[in-house]
Amino acid sequence: MQIGIPAEIAAGETRVAATPETVRKFVGLGYKVVIQAGAGKASTYLDAAYTEAGAEIAADAAQTLKDSDLVLKVIAPEASEIALFKEDAVVLAIFSPHQNTCLEQYAQRRLSCVAMELIPRITRAQSSDVLSSQANVAGYKAVLMAANAYQRMFPMLMTAAGTVKPARLLVLGVGVAGLQAIATARRMGAIVEASDMRPAAKEQVESLGGKWLDVPMSEEEKAKALGTGGYAWVPSADYVRDQARIVDKAASAADIVITTALIPGRKAPVLVRAATVEKMKSGSVIVDMAVSSGGNVEGSRLDETVTTENGVTILGVGNIPATVAAETSALYARNMLNFIQPQHDKESNSFKLQRNDEMVKPTLIVDAGQVLYRKSA
Ligand code: NAI
Repeated sequence: MQIGIPAEIAAGETRVAATPETVRKFVGLGYKVVIQAGAGKASTYLDAAYTEAGAEIAADAAQTLKDSDLVLKVIAPEASEIALFKEDAVVLAIFSPHQNTCLEQYAQRRLSCVAMELIPRITRAQSSDVLSSQANVAGYKAVLMAANAYQRMFPMLMTAAGTVKPARLLVLGVGVAGLQAIATARRMGAIVEASDMRPAAKEQVESLGGKWLDVPMSEEEKAKALGTGGYAWVPSADYVRDQARIVDKAASAADIVITTALIPGRKAPVLVRAATVEKMKSGSVIVDMAVSSGGNVEGSRLDETVTTENGVTILGVGNIPATVAAETSALYARNMLNFIQPQHDKESNSFKLQRNDEMVKPTLIVDAGQVLYRKSA
């Protein structure tokens, strides 16, 4: 059975879905692995390392995909690539099904599409959780990007020339990315405040040495927050108003704001209004980590740096994981290996997609010539 790894073609995508480490494991399990020449170069993995791990190098995407039964990608195939796939191939990638316009074409090619980002957050699936592995690195890098754009320092220093004040950092949305942003900023000496609509995040923020910003919740909202299994719930108008007031006050006093709030499959909520940005200090920096899902900050623009009239820099880097590509690829590739390994059938020495497994079922968005994904799902 053949595993194929084509080069990513999405603009700005520097990651690769398999590394020499995971290729070696696949070869050890008995797979033939074919990788497109140069596929790992932008993430620092060279063809020679893949060859040494046991892969064959193919000249182009067509050669890579022609006989591949299982295809590993970072970003879902684009329309131009679909005809290159072998019919009935299983494709593992981040498919963004709510905005993917190729689902019918995948079905026509009889591909089985596994959307890695839909792997459920159950304990057994943690080692395959691509959202967590990528968000973790992105949260770290967002702080470094902010520090780079910020014309002052993070830690407090007492120097002969006077005292350097510590930076005040505000994190909005404390999931995987937000927690790593807090941890990174604290290590660098910043004072951190953070808020989330999940009450459970309070304890996590405080355990990292951050200050929790509480937005009042009604009893009904508290029950909702508990009932959604840790995911964001739909806030009431009262909550949104109170949150805007609290964010406005905290952002006005902050030097750095990092926003990470996402709602799976939907547009990101706006948490920082233009009127709040206008009150922020000259020289302060905002990193809108949700910019590719519509943005948490009014005025942020995808893949652009905006400097406002009042001197606030808003960074809108759409694909932060791609700026730490060696690490994010290594983690993503291991997520894929961990997903595939339990579905490896030792008797036939091949991959057998376990369609009814609770970890696999929610990820299968196209199968047997049919689009299974439903937007409301
Ligand atoms: P995410 O990337 O979907 O969103 C980031 C954060 O933004 C979340 O904490 C969310 O509550 C928050 N947010 C969304 N809308 C908001 C709003 N209007 N105002 C304020 N905050 C808002 O989150 P991520 O990192 O994917 O984590 C989501 C949940 O999944 C968390 O409860 C996390 O603990 C849990 N989780 C569980 C895992 C497991 O059990 N295997 C692994 C990773 C995360």
